[in-house]
Amino acid sequence: MGLVKNLASTRRLLHIDDSYIEALRTCGSERRLSSKDQLYVKKIRNGTVIDHIDHGHALDVLHILNINGKRGEVVSAVLNVESKQLGRKDIVKIEDRELKPQEVDKIALIAPKATINIVREYEVTSKKRVELPHTIKGIIKCNNPSCVVNAREPVISEFKVEVAEPLRIRCHYCGRIMGKEDVLKQF
Ligand code: CTP
Ligand code: ZN
Repeated sequence: MGLVKNLASTRRLLHIDDSYIEALRTCGSERRLSSKDQLYVKKIRNGTVIDHIDHGHALDVLHILNINGKRGEVVSAVLNVESKQLGRKDIVKIEDRELKPQEVDKIALIAPKATINIVREYEVTSKKRVELPHTIKGIIKCNNPSCVVNAREPVISEFKVEVAEPLRIRCHYCGRIMGKEDVLKQF
C-alpha cells in the first residue's frame, strides 16, 4: 500500500504520464522507449486538456482561444499522435485555464470529436465531448456581403447545421452555405 502511494507521488513529481508507464511496461527495446510520442506528453496539475482534436487543427484551437504565447500561459500542443479512435489526433493542454461556453462551441465547429477534460490536482474531474448545436447563434458571420446580418442594424447571425462532418452550415437569413474553411477564416 505504502509502495503504491510512493509510486503515485513519484509519478506526479516527475510528471510521468500513463503513456510513459505503458511504454515502460510494453517495451522490449530501447528504441521503443525513446519513441517521442510516448515521452513528451506530460500531465498537467490544473487546467484543461482538449483531446481528440482532428489532426491538423491544434493550431486552430490555439487561435480560437487567443493563445499566442505572449501572455505567459503554459500550453502544450501535441500534433499528429496516434489515436485508437481517430487514427491520428492533436491534443492541446492549457494550464490554469477553463474554457468559456462560446470557446467550446467554436472548437466544436472545427473539431467535432474533441473532448474537454478539466484537470484538478492531476485528476480528470470532468470529461465532456464537445457538442455541435443544431443552431449556431452569434459566433460566426455570414460571408455573403449583402446578407442582412452584415447590414448596419444589429441582427445576430444564425446558422443551421446541416451536416456536422464535413461541416455544412446554412445562413438562416440568406441561405448562404458555408463550410469549415469559411469558418476557419474568421477565427
Ligand atoms: N491529462 C493530463 N494531465 C492530467 C490528467 C490527464 O494531461 N493530470 C491528459 C491525458 O494525457 C489525456 C487526457 O488528459 O490526453 C484525458 O485523460 P484521461 O481521461 O486520463 O485519458 P483517457 O482515459 O485516455 O481519455 P479518453 O478515454 O477520453 O481517451
Ligand atoms: Zn447570410
